[in-house]
Amino acid sequence: MKKDGLTIVDNRTDETYEVPFHKGTIRAMDLRKIKTGPDDFGLMTYDPAFMNTASCHSAITYIDGDKGILRYRGYPIEQLAEHCTFLEVAYLLLEGELPNQAQLKTWIDNITHHTMLHESTKHFLEGFRYDAHPMAMFISTVAALATNYPEARHVHDAETRRLQIYRLIGKVPTIAAYTYRHGLGFPYVYPDNDLGYSENFLNMLWKMAEAKYQANPVLARALDILFILHADHEQNCSANVMRSVGSSQADPFVATAAAAAALSGPLHGGANEEVLKMIDEIGSKDRVPAYIEGIKAGKGKLMGFGHRVYKNYDPRARIIKETAERVFEITGKNPKLDIALELERIALEDEYFIKRKLYPNVDFYSGIIYQAMGFNPDMFTVLFAIPRTAGWLAQWEEMVSDPEQKIARPRQIYTGHEERKVVPMAEREAK
Ligand code: SDX
Repeated sequence: MKKDGLTIVDNRTDETYEVPFHKGTIRAMDLRKIKTGPDDFGLMTYDPAFMNTASCHSAITYIDGDKGILRYRGYPIEQLAEHCTFLEVAYLLLEGELPNQAQLKTWIDNITHHTMLHESTKHFLEGFRYDAHPMAMFISTVAALATNYPEARHVHDAETRRLQIYRLIGKVPTIAAYTYRHGLGFPYVYPDNDLGYSENFLNMLWKMAEAKYQANPVLARALDILFILHADHEQNCSANVMRSVGSSQADPFVATAAAAAALSGPLHGGANEEVLKMIDEIGSKDRVPAYIEGIKAGKGKLMGFGHRVYKNYDPRARIIKETAERVFEITGKNPKLDIALELERIALEDEYFIKRKLYPNVDFYSGIIYQAMGFNPDMFTVLFAIPRTAGWLAQWEEMVSDPEQKIARPRQIYTGHEERKVVPMAEREAK
């Protein structure tokens, strides 16, 4: 019978080592026994950007990049987007099961009663310039919430964790809406607890002088679906930051702010805003071929295309495209969609993109919908961060509760100077 694991021969010593498999991996620590002598630290792995490294066990989200599969707790994203609400999916991510009616009502009540912000937060926001980027304001304000809840540092107390989870999921739409209203110089709109999660967010964004905001049900549902699609995505860059910051036992507010900071980068969640800038730069369908030739010549990247894991069509992009049609029936078609569809059509036929398995990702079409719904491009990544807060918190809680996890502290390959002596200033020649 074939042995399990690897048999490694170290050619330096002719020693043989047996390294067992662990769920399709080998434990990096098992390599440390491979040494040339007692003073040797032992073998490490070198994996910049963690291209081939599993950092944790997780039961939250499953992605099959080759087949374009995405499941939250085993449920296909297509079914969740069709049958569930965002808060139902947030419960699933955090609790591991879909809620029954009573559980959902309690969950919604708990989150709804944490949508308000301490009044001091409004004064904090007033400190930003009128043209401050909403994502920078969002990140800073989420971090500032930590000053209101010092008990959040008790991360090993399950009840305290749950209260901060209610607060963060409840308050991120309010913070997002306040950053938007700050930019316009409009008064802040307080949460309306009669409204659902997405309706209330639209209320805080767009209510003006009317007594009660009436959200368009099609747009509210489309936003809820977009929130479901953006809720989690296993060990992406920002989830890794959430886990890493959380591993030092920092509170979940500053950890969420750090994760949002990672999301804001143009290679991650910031791509949705970059897609709209790219489409504006192209300007018309007939200029798409020349733009693509520029990309192939190395002039930048096709924003909204490509993915570290998906080497097939991102299933979220497909659902977003379908949702766009329902939104455009209300808002009128965003003319930029034609340019995006032409970009996709040409790219999917071009060997450069086919060879590199580059397909539209979640960010390619989302901005086109958001813009049609009335959002400015600088709000797009904030719209990504709102639902992803639930995913980050699920990843954080799983990390805090995992007995194998401890403070994240990678090693390095040192490439600097060997020891050398400090030369007194007087003897240092101007270099
Ligand atoms: C998100 O990880 C997640 O799950 C993230 C996310 C989530 O839900 O959390 O899915 C959300 O961040 C989606 C990705 C949004 N980012 C973009 O759309 C930005 C554009 N995409 C690229 O920057 C890139 O595709 C990444 C960052 C998404 C993935 O990069 P990788 O896996 O590090 O791949 P790579 O940069 O090594 O590229 C491999 C090759 C290179 O060409 P060669 O050097 O082999 O010739 O593909 C090329 C790259 O130049 N390439 C692209 C490209 N993406 C990769 N060429 C043109 N356009 C692109 N978009």
